[in-house]
Amino acid sequence: ARKPMTVPDFRARKGQEPLVCLTAYTAHVARICDETADMLLVGDSLGMVIHGMPNTLGVTLEHMIMHGQAVMRGAQAALVVVDLPFGSFEESPETAFRNAARVVKETGCTAVKLEGGRDMAPTIRHLTRRGIPVMAHVGLMPQQMNTAGGFRAVRAEDQWDDVIADAKAVEEAGAFAVVIEGVAEPLAAKITRSLTIPTIGIGASAECDGQILVFEDMIGLFPRVPTFVKRYGNMEEMMRDGVTRYAEEVRARRFPGSEHTYSAKK
Ligand code: KIV
Ligand code: NA
Repeated sequence: ARKPMTVPDFRARKGQEPLVCLTAYTAHVARICDETADMLLVGDSLGMVIHGMPNTLGVTLEHMIMHGQAVMRGAQAALVVVDLPFGSFEESPETAFRNAARVVKETGCTAVKLEGGRDMAPTIRHLTRRGIPVMAHVGLMPQQMNTAGGFRAVRAEDQWDDVIADAKAVEEAGAFAVVIEGVAEPLAAKITRSLTIPTIGIGASAECDGQILVFEDMIGLFPRVPTFVKRYGNMEEMMRDGVTRYAEEVRARRFPGSEHTYSAKK
């Protein structure tokens, strides 16, 4: 069995072997990913990916706690991080601590992740100084989709300074790592070079210290994926094939067969 990953271990991987991260929302997926991943994120993407919401804004603390509990039952060695959902942390550092502490107490996870840069730095400081490690998330922030007018990657050079300032602010505030989402490669490289904490990229090039993908996107189980996703499987096709053959066999009375049937006991 692998030694459980701690926050200091994770942070110390800066500049070493790339950090392998994946999302997980259920115990079974957590068990599979835990065999090799360094970190499992219970992402608020679960609202879209498994609850069919149009974006992440409707995800609640209760959703995150329930899926966090499931993932913790499947994880052994990987660091488990749970996203703070929209509306649970922005109001004040105190509110953020109360909600983050509920997540930690009720799931047993090690750390939380929250979206935001300079604006959230005081909150990140408040949490880390009180025992809750924080992974930050800058660049494309899905919870900002209404102010941004959609999910927009940061490519234009005149937007880079904002993201750099956000990344520096979260490191300064005590974040142990930062997710960088949807940014141009030279910007990801610049941020990764200028920080002492690991950068975890999603749609942010190979320049980051680690990578994360949404599990369902990666294995081909979610229909609409951004261009930065590489598919390592086609689970949707396998599942559709299984359902189709099951339906055919039930309709033809070929399933269940005798091997799936109880005979009477004397
Ligand atoms: O919610 C999520 O899945 C995420 C990652 C993909 C970084 O925040
Ligand atoms: Na998220």
